[in-house]
Amino acid sequence: MKALILAGGKGSRLRPLTYSMAKQLVPVANKPVIEYGIEAIAAAGVKDFGIIVADTAKAIEEVVGDGSRWGVKVTYIAQPEPLGLAHAVATAKPFLGGDEFIMYLGDNMIKSPLDGLIREFQDPATASTILLTAVPNPSDFGVAELKEGHVVRLEEKPKAPRSNLALVGVYLFRGLIHDHIARLKPSARGEYEITDAIQSLIDAGLNVRSHIVEGWWKDTGTVEAMLEANRLILEDLPRAICGEVDDRSRVEGRVSLGKGSRVLNSVVRGPAIIGEGCVIEDSFVGPFTAIDSGTVLQGTEIEYSIVLGDCRLIRPGARIEASLIGRGATVGHAAGVPKTMQLVLGDSSQLTLP
Ligand code: DAU
Repeated sequence: MKALILAGGKGSRLRPLTYSMAKQLVPVANKPVIEYGIEAIAAAGVKDFGIIVADTAKAIEEVVGDGSRWGVKVTYIAQPEPLGLAHAVATAKPFLGGDEFIMYLGDNMIKSPLDGLIREFQDPATASTILLTAVPNPSDFGVAELKEGHVVRLEEKPKAPRSNLALVGVYLFRGLIHDHIARLKPSARGEYEITDAIQSLIDAGLNVRSHIVEGWWKDTGTVEAMLEANRLILEDLPRAICGEVDDRSRVEGRVSLGKGSRVLNSVVRGPAIIGEGCVIEDSFVGPFTAIDSGTVLQGTEIEYSIVLGDCRLIRPGARIEASLIGRGATVGHAAGVPKTMQLVLGDSSQLTLP
């Protein structure tokens, strides 16, 4: 069994962050999204990984490296254009050969072990296994229709969905999927859809098994989903205080405070994670907040947010909530000029004022 992780594509719904970073590298609880997938697959015993990369190849290679951190071997596969998930599989054919493989969308997070699925796939009567979960907005996903527990039809982002069961970004395939991909035509959105390739397996009378996800699943392609994924991961965070907390501060509940970080005259209420070398001064950090290394907060209240590394949040004047703040950003108050705003915002930035 091999693993194929898809980390190409564009991250248009996470702009402006994704102008400068791959969407698969945006951190959830201070860890890049893609690492959660690699960890879960490595924990299921798969050792041979292919990672599909595109424009952001260099950054992904810098973070993931050769895979030795997880005891696996990583081969990078460049996809020249983001022509769809099935196109990504076709691009990886020289790496995959005729082997069976687990395909994992690099911007997805799933809390459910994968070893049972992989074991069950050893039954050669199964041509493919897909994961499904009920969602309130099925039109945003691939959607499966089941009859008596069997998958009878799949549609990619249908306007009139036949069920509320979305395809989760984890799939198991055998080598025969390549023949079905080779016959695909581009969809209405101009992509070679893996959903259509699986439909082609069904049309050929082959057995496609489905599983309903038991834990949670998030496609982290939007800010709302990133914040939710961050909340869900922080729910399981253990308390670990490696930094310094002065005697005017309170660090309550499940808080992870990294080495070299200092909490001064502040309250940190868990679950929350603060990376290394941060300064939290005269501030309140509320539940479900992740602050990455090197960030400084002074006179700031923040909760249910993700702040990347090396930011400076200095007396913003209102509580920051449900926010995603990119690397090296500065948020503060214009000194000496009340009732004016001084903004330097990247393309597609969003600023919601109180
Ligand atoms: O998240 C689950 C959904 O993922 C499924 O329900 C859909 O059936 C499936 O088509 C897919 O839909 P998305 O439109 O959300 O896929 P997205 O374009 O976000 O790409 C998913 C991942 O694959 C992402 O990490 C980028 C990568 N990718 C995407 C394309 C189009 C590639 O590596 N190459 C590509 O050509």
